[in-house]
Amino acid sequence: MAAVSLTVNGKSVTAEVDPRTLLVQLLREHLRLTGTHVGCDTSQCGACVVLVNGKAVKSCTVLALQLDGADVLSIEGLAPSDGPLHPMQEAFRENHGLQCGYCTPGMILTAVDLVRRKGHELDDRTIREELEGNLCRCTGYHNIVKAIAAGARAMQGSGAATKAAE
Ligand code: FES
Ligand code: FES
Repeated sequence: MAAVSLTVNGKSVTAEVDPRTLLVQLLREHLRLTGTHVGCDTSQCGACVVLVNGKAVKSCTVLALQLDGADVLSIEGLAPSDGPLHPMQEAFRENHGLQCGYCTPGMILTAVDLVRRKGHELDDRTIREELEGNLCRCTGYHNIVKAIAAGARAMQGSGAATKAAE
């Protein structure tokens, strides 16, 4: 076992983990943050995406021990539990960007990272290209693309949104 210390959703966390523990296992099994999903064994689906130091990362592809000192944001930390949804979450709700919701946490955090990198005016082609690493079995993607374009615009000028995307 080895100790890893990191920040998760704004809180300092120290855990004793088997060195083979993946970030997604640390989140789901040690910290009980089950909003981060596992949809494949092959690093393809993107259901497990979280932000690590502000950048989208497939949490099934990184060892927890590699993240000593890192700042991790999972879907649970995107908006305050007693406050309004993050603008990207609200855009998914408004635009029916989900059905079963399994892919949704990864989609939303991927979208937040996309806004950080490419700004608030995103065309459909850019969004579709950027979603290459996120699979959805339900929606056909059309409403996800609409939701991300709307969410990106809504994040402009939003203090909470800007902070999450930093
Ligand atoms: Fe990580 Fe599918 S569970 S990419
Ligand atoms: Fe079901 Fe995307 S909403 S997998």
